[in-house]
Amino acid sequence: MDAVALPWDFRPLDGERVRLTALRQSDLDPLYAMQSDPDVCRYLLYEPRSRDQVVDVLARDAGALRLENAGDYLQPAIRDREGRFLGTMYLELHSVEDRTAEIGWILLPEHQGHGYAQEAATVLLDLCFGELGLHRVYAELDPRNTASVALCTRLGMREEGLFREHMWLKGEWTDTGHHAILEREWAARR
Ligand SMILES: CC(C)(COP(=O)(O)OP(=O)(O)OC[C@H]1O[C@@H](n2cnc3c(N)ncnc32)[C@H](O)[C@@H]1OP(=O)(O)O)[C@@H](O)C(=O)NCCC(=O)NCCS
Repeated sequence: MDAVALPWDFRPLDGERVRLTALRQSDLDPLYAMQSDPDVCRYLLYEPRSRDQVVDVLARDAGALRLENAGDYLQPAIRDREGRFLGTMYLELHSVEDRTAEIGWILLPEHQGHGYAQEAATVLLDLCFGELGLHRVYAELDPRNTASVALCTRLGMREEGLFREHMWLKGEWTDTGHHAILEREWAARR
Protein backbone atom coordinates (compact mmCIF):
# COMPACT_ATOMS: atom_id res chain seq x y z
CA MET A 1 0.00 0.00 0.00
CA ASP A 2 1.43 3.38 -1.06
CA ALA A 3 1.89 6.00 1.63
CA VAL A 4 -0.24 9.08 1.45
CA ALA A 5 1.81 12.16 0.45
CA LEU A 6 0.94 14.47 3.33
CA PRO A 7 1.22 17.21 4.37
CA TRP A 8 0.27 18.82 1.09
CA ASP A 9 0.33 22.60 0.71
CA PHE A 10 -2.02 24.13 -1.81
CA ARG A 11 -0.67 25.48 -5.06
CA PRO A 12 -2.65 26.56 -8.15
CA LEU A 13 -3.84 23.64 -10.27
CA ASP A 14 -4.59 23.90 -13.97
CA GLY A 15 -7.16 22.25 -16.20
CA GLU A 16 -7.67 22.98 -19.87
CA ARG A 17 -10.03 25.94 -19.31
CA VAL A 18 -10.01 26.34 -15.53
CA ARG A 19 -7.48 27.16 -12.86
CA LEU A 20 -7.97 26.38 -9.17
CA THR A 21 -6.40 29.01 -6.93
CA ALA A 22 -6.75 30.02 -3.30
CA LEU A 23 -9.69 32.28 -2.46
CA ARG A 24 -8.69 35.92 -2.03
CA GLN A 25 -10.29 39.02 -0.55
CA SER A 26 -11.18 40.31 -4.01
CA ASP A 27 -13.50 37.28 -4.41
CA LEU A 28 -15.93 38.70 -1.86
CA ASP A 29 -18.49 40.06 -4.35
CA PRO A 30 -18.87 36.93 -6.51
CA LEU A 31 -18.59 34.64 -3.48
CA TYR A 32 -21.37 36.60 -1.77
CA ALA A 33 -23.47 36.52 -4.95
CA MET A 34 -23.06 32.74 -5.03
CA GLN A 35 -23.53 31.92 -1.34
CA SER A 36 -26.52 34.24 -0.92
CA ASP A 37 -28.39 32.85 -3.93
CA PRO A 38 -31.37 30.72 -2.77
CA ASP A 39 -31.21 28.54 -5.92
CA VAL A 40 -27.51 27.82 -5.42
CA CYS A 41 -28.09 27.04 -1.72
CA ARG A 42 -31.22 24.91 -2.24
CA TYR A 43 -29.38 21.62 -1.70
CA LEU A 44 -26.44 22.88 0.36
CA LEU A 45 -26.24 22.37 4.10
CA TYR A 46 -26.47 26.10 4.77
CA GLU A 47 -29.13 28.75 4.21
CA PRO A 48 -28.31 31.69 1.92
CA ARG A 49 -25.63 33.73 3.68
CA SER A 50 -25.52 37.42 4.51
CA ARG A 51 -22.60 39.52 3.33
CA ASP A 52 -21.19 39.58 6.89
CA GLN A 53 -21.32 35.80 7.04
CA VAL A 54 -19.51 35.54 3.71
CA VAL A 55 -16.83 37.96 4.95
CA ASP A 56 -16.17 35.53 7.85
CA VAL A 57 -16.30 32.46 5.62
CA LEU A 58 -13.87 34.04 3.16
CA ALA A 59 -11.40 34.89 5.94
CA ARG A 60 -11.58 31.29 7.17
CA ASP A 61 -11.51 29.50 3.82
CA ALA A 62 -8.81 31.67 2.20
CA GLY A 63 -6.47 30.31 4.87
CA ALA A 64 -7.39 26.63 4.45
CA LEU A 65 -4.34 25.69 2.41
CA ARG A 66 -2.87 22.55 3.94
CA LEU A 67 -3.98 18.93 3.96
CA GLU A 68 -2.37 17.00 6.76
CA ASN A 69 -4.90 15.68 9.27
CA ALA A 70 -8.46 14.36 9.05
CA GLY A 71 -10.81 17.32 8.79
CA ASP A 72 -8.34 19.54 6.92
CA TYR A 73 -9.92 20.97 3.79
CA LEU A 74 -9.27 23.11 0.74
CA GLN A 75 -11.84 25.45 -0.72
CA PRO A 76 -10.18 26.79 -3.89
CA ALA A 77 -11.81 29.16 -6.32
CA ILE A 78 -12.52 27.87 -9.81
CA ARG A 79 -11.42 30.55 -12.29
CA ASP A 80 -11.28 30.75 -16.03
CA ARG A 81 -8.05 31.53 -17.84
CA GLU A 82 -8.79 35.27 -17.57
CA GLY A 83 -8.98 34.90 -13.79
CA ARG A 84 -12.76 35.34 -13.63
CA PHE A 85 -14.35 33.69 -10.57
CA LEU A 86 -16.65 30.83 -11.63
CA GLY A 87 -17.26 29.02 -8.34
CA THR A 88 -15.55 26.97 -5.67
CA MET A 89 -14.43 23.39 -5.16
CA TYR A 90 -14.23 21.61 -1.83
CA LEU A 91 -11.87 18.84 -0.82
CA GLU A 92 -11.81 17.54 2.75
CA LEU A 93 -9.46 14.90 4.05
CA HIS A 94 -11.78 12.46 5.76
CA SER A 95 -9.23 9.86 6.92
CA VAL A 96 -5.48 9.71 6.55
CA GLU A 97 -5.32 6.01 7.50
CA ASP A 98 -8.00 5.07 5.00
CA ARG A 99 -6.74 7.60 2.44
CA THR A 100 -10.23 8.97 1.89
CA ALA A 101 -11.47 12.44 0.98
CA GLU A 102 -14.79 14.15 0.29
CA ILE A 103 -15.26 16.33 -2.78
CA GLY A 104 -17.83 19.04 -3.52
CA TRP A 105 -18.59 21.83 -6.03
CA ILE A 106 -20.54 25.05 -6.46
CA LEU A 107 -20.78 27.30 -9.51
CA LEU A 108 -22.31 30.73 -9.97
CA PRO A 109 -25.56 30.23 -11.90
CA GLU A 110 -24.24 32.09 -14.96
CA HIS A 111 -21.31 29.67 -15.20
CA GLN A 112 -23.31 26.45 -14.90
CA GLY A 113 -23.87 24.33 -17.97
CA HIS A 114 -20.39 24.71 -19.47
CA GLY A 115 -18.60 21.73 -17.95
CA TYR A 116 -16.50 23.89 -15.60
CA ALA A 117 -17.36 21.88 -12.47
CA GLN A 118 -16.56 18.64 -14.26
CA GLU A 119 -13.21 20.02 -15.34
CA ALA A 120 -12.40 21.38 -11.89
CA ALA A 121 -13.39 18.07 -10.27
CA THR A 122 -11.19 16.22 -12.74
CA VAL A 123 -8.24 18.40 -11.74
CA LEU A 124 -8.87 17.64 -8.05
CA LEU A 125 -9.40 13.90 -8.62
CA ASP A 126 -6.13 13.77 -10.58
CA LEU A 127 -4.47 15.40 -7.57
CA CYS A 128 -6.16 13.04 -5.10
CA PHE A 129 -5.28 9.83 -6.90
CA GLY A 130 -1.95 11.08 -8.25
CA GLU A 131 0.22 13.21 -6.02
CA LEU A 132 -1.80 12.70 -2.82
CA GLY A 133 -1.98 8.92 -3.19
CA LEU A 134 -5.57 8.67 -1.91
CA HIS A 135 -7.59 5.48 -2.23
CA ARG A 136 -11.18 6.68 -2.27
CA VAL A 137 -13.03 9.94 -2.89
CA TYR A 138 -16.73 10.39 -2.18
CA ALA A 139 -19.45 12.98 -2.56
CA GLU A 140 -22.59 13.33 -0.48
CA LEU A 141 -25.61 15.05 -1.91
CA ASP A 142 -29.34 15.42 -1.88
CA PRO A 143 -30.64 13.00 -4.54
CA ARG A 144 -33.02 15.74 -5.74
CA ASN A 145 -29.94 17.70 -6.80
CA THR A 146 -30.00 16.26 -10.31
CA ALA A 147 -27.19 18.50 -11.65
CA SER A 148 -24.87 17.25 -8.93
CA VAL A 149 -25.93 13.61 -9.37
CA ALA A 150 -25.29 13.95 -13.12
CA LEU A 151 -21.84 15.37 -12.42
CA CYS A 152 -20.98 12.43 -10.15
CA THR A 153 -22.10 10.05 -12.89
CA ARG A 154 -20.04 11.87 -15.55
CA LEU A 155 -17.00 11.60 -13.28
CA GLY A 156 -17.50 7.85 -12.91
CA MET A 157 -18.55 8.00 -9.27
CA ARG A 158 -20.76 5.07 -8.27
CA GLU A 159 -23.93 5.65 -6.32
CA GLU A 160 -23.20 3.48 -3.33
CA GLY A 161 -25.94 4.28 -0.96
CA LEU A 162 -28.99 6.28 -0.12
CA PHE A 163 -29.58 7.27 3.48
CA ARG A 164 -33.30 7.81 3.83
CA GLU A 165 -34.38 10.87 5.80
CA HIS A 166 -30.84 11.12 7.05
CA MET A 167 -31.02 14.75 8.18
CA TRP A 168 -33.56 17.29 9.39
CA LEU A 169 -32.63 20.12 7.06
CA LYS A 170 -34.41 23.29 6.03
CA GLY A 171 -37.65 22.20 7.62
CA GLU A 172 -37.87 18.67 6.25
CA TRP A 173 -36.39 15.20 6.51
CA THR A 174 -33.80 14.98 3.76
CA ASP A 175 -32.22 11.98 2.03
CA THR A 176 -28.46 11.82 1.44
CA GLY A 177 -26.95 9.99 -1.52
CA HIS A 178 -23.38 8.70 -1.29
CA HIS A 179 -21.29 8.51 -4.50
CA ALA A 180 -17.68 7.34 -4.63
CA ILE A 181 -14.77 6.41 -6.85
CA LEU A 182 -11.64 4.41 -6.08
CA GLU A 183 -8.08 5.10 -7.17
CA ARG A 184 -8.00 2.15 -9.62
CA GLU A 185 -11.34 3.14 -11.12
CA TRP A 186 -10.11 6.68 -11.76
CA ALA A 187 -6.85 5.34 -13.23
CA ALA A 188 -8.83 3.13 -15.62
CA ARG A 189 -10.83 6.17 -16.82
CA ARG A 190 -7.75 8.35 -17.32
C1 LIG B 1 -23.79 21.01 -9.13
C2 LIG B 1 -23.28 22.03 -10.13
C3 LIG B 1 -21.87 22.49 -9.74
C4 LIG B 1 -23.23 21.39 -11.52
O1 LIG B 1 -22.88 22.37 -12.47
P1 LIG B 1 -22.86 22.01 -14.03
O2 LIG B 1 -22.41 23.21 -14.77
O3 LIG B 1 -24.17 21.39 -14.42
O4 LIG B 1 -21.78 20.86 -14.07
P2 LIG B 1 -20.68 20.49 -15.14
O5 LIG B 1 -19.49 21.31 -15.01
O6 LIG B 1 -20.51 19.03 -15.07
O7 LIG B 1 -21.36 20.90 -16.52
C5 LIG B 1 -22.23 20.01 -17.17
C6 LIG B 1 -23.13 20.77 -18.09
O8 LIG B 1 -22.35 21.58 -18.96
C7 LIG B 1 -22.60 21.18 -20.33
N1 LIG B 1 -21.34 21.41 -21.07
C8 LIG B 1 -21.17 22.42 -21.97
N2 LIG B 1 -19.91 22.41 -22.41
C9 LIG B 1 -19.28 21.38 -21.81
C10 LIG B 1 -17.95 20.87 -21.89
N3 LIG B 1 -17.02 21.45 -22.66
N4 LIG B 1 -17.63 19.80 -21.12
C11 LIG B 1 -18.55 19.22 -20.33
N5 LIG B 1 -19.84 19.67 -20.21
C12 LIG B 1 -20.19 20.75 -20.96
C13 LIG B 1 -23.07 19.76 -20.23
O9 LIG B 1 -23.81 19.37 -21.35
C14 LIG B 1 -23.93 19.84 -18.98
O10 LIG B 1 -25.12 20.53 -19.27
P3 LIG B 1 -26.56 19.86 -18.99
O11 LIG B 1 -26.67 19.72 -17.49
O12 LIG B 1 -27.49 20.87 -19.55
O13 LIG B 1 -26.53 18.55 -19.68
C15 LIG B 1 -24.24 23.26 -10.21
O14 LIG B 1 -25.53 22.81 -10.57
C16 LIG B 1 -24.32 24.05 -8.91
O15 LIG B 1 -23.44 24.85 -8.61
N6 LIG B 1 -25.39 23.84 -8.12
C17 LIG B 1 -25.62 24.60 -6.91
C18 LIG B 1 -24.68 24.20 -5.80
C19 LIG B 1 -24.79 22.73 -5.47
O16 LIG B 1 -25.88 22.21 -5.32
N7 LIG B 1 -23.63 22.07 -5.35
C20 LIG B 1 -23.56 20.65 -5.10
C21 LIG B 1 -23.87 20.31 -3.70
S1 LIG B 1 -23.84 18.55 -3.52
